[in-house]
Amino acid sequence: MAVEIKRVSPQELEKQKEFTVKTRNLLAERYDSKPLACVVTYGCQQNVADSEHIKGMLEEMGYGFTDNRLEAKLVIFNTCAVREHAEDRVFGNVGALKKYKLANPDVIIALCGCMMQQKHIAAKIKESFAFVDLVFGTHVLHRVPELVYTALTRRKRVFELPDMDGVIAEGVPVKRDNDRKAWIPIMYGCNNFCSYCIVPYVRGRERSRLVDDVVAEFEQLVADGYKEITLLGQNVNSYGKDLEPRVTFAQLLRLLNDLPGDFRIRFMTSHPKDCTKELLDTMAQCDKVATHLHLPFQSGNNRVLRAMNRGYTREHYMELINYAKDLMGDELSITSDIIVGFPGETYEEFQDTLSLVKELGATSLFTFIYSPRLGTPAAKMEDPIPYEEKSKWMRQLLAAQEEISAQQMALHKDKVFKCFVFGKGKTGDNYLAARTDGNLIIEFEGDEGLVGTFQNIKVTEPLTYIMMGEIERN
Ligand code: 5AD
Ligand code: SF4
Repeated sequence: MAVEIKRVSPQELEKQKEFTVKTRNLLAERYDSKPLACVVTYGCQQNVADSEHIKGMLEEMGYGFTDNRLEAKLVIFNTCAVREHAEDRVFGNVGALKKYKLANPDVIIALCGCMMQQKHIAAKIKESFAFVDLVFGTHVLHRVPELVYTALTRRKRVFELPDMDGVIAEGVPVKRDNDRKAWIPIMYGCNNFCSYCIVPYVRGRERSRLVDDVVAEFEQLVADGYKEITLLGQNVNSYGKDLEPRVTFAQLLRLLNDLPGDFRIRFMTSHPKDCTKELLDTMAQCDKVATHLHLPFQSGNNRVLRAMNRGYTREHYMELINYAKDLMGDELSITSDIIVGFPGETYEEFQDTLSLVKELGATSLFTFIYSPRLGTPAAKMEDPIPYEEKSKWMRQLLAAQEEISAQQMALHKDKVFKCFVFGKGKTGDNYLAARTDGNLIIEFEGDEGLVGTFQNIKVTEPLTYIMMGEIERN
């Protein structure tokens, strides 16, 4: 049954437009030149996309932008709660701004994003970071104009952290970081409750944007010259389950693929529990959908997978992978996320993860040592293995993958790939960097004017993590 999705009303959005104008007037009165804002983003692509919306709203409110926190009149930290390390960095970086704020009382320091949605974190900010002016959660992002205006005009600190399942706001302004590559969130939230993960608690329940809204944003991007468009969701395979009529993610992909224009579609993240053969068939059949599958397996051991509440077995995961490999062959590039040292995981069980890594043949992996997240079931489980031991396991994993990555790259010698040239390379001054359909990076010598275009590039020398190539000129 389709659930009712709370969409932000046109009246509410209109109210935000009024705050936008009020802030613009206020800033013009207060400052002789355009005040600058610095938006610092941690974490995943969803946060990057959210920050682009924050910047879109701030731009309309009259802010310019800087990367230098110490010249900004408004600093916003958009935070991530997935692992402790990300949280520690936020506390460190916010703490470092205390002096600047005390010397410049007109500066607004704001914190938002997933971390703020956790009660103990918000309480810590309230008590120990008295110089922070504004704190807001993931569900009120569209209210940035109102919240910043309030922070600018009220003497009291502003904490806006409603506890709710989440909303969808359409039509919020956006200032994109790149003019050829763009993100489109197609859904928000997560319903999976993997036992280690904080995301379902801080991002609320799964909710899909309407097909028409996604298509309209996509068409606009293509019209504006965007070439690589990535569809985002914590679990894109759940897209459309809450829509009426119901739509599958594969159907959405087909629809976008059939739009006119020269572009490439990417998507992340897929969950093996909901990944269908229909989706893999669609990837293989749609020429504009990249043959890159990011399918996190987290662990190769079935007991650990059960304890993680992942909802699939190793065998099911490999069945999907083998199906995809049969369909797409060498064209397919696989990446995955892995957690090492889940509570109670034994060395033997970790060996199953290692053997799955070897069986999988991923082009690259995102590997994490388990980090306990307060409020999740895993945080209450016994975790007897010391961190140093887990680090040793991690090193084994990385060494195995390094060899596999190099083998994967070696398969491509002399092949020609249609690549999207995304920027300058790291090899040397006149080198550019391009991305294959399978998300592999090739560096080659070329003129900067090629950035933002598709080019056919031949691999001359595969290395471990990237490949060297040259433009195919016929
Ligand atoms: N500890 C370590 N890694 C985690 N991830 C999510 N939660 C945790 C945690 N508590 C990893 C998973 C997920 C990726 C985005 O982050 O591998 O796929
Ligand atoms: Fe977290 Fe699992 Fe949802 Fe991914 S699918 S965001 S790991 S709960």
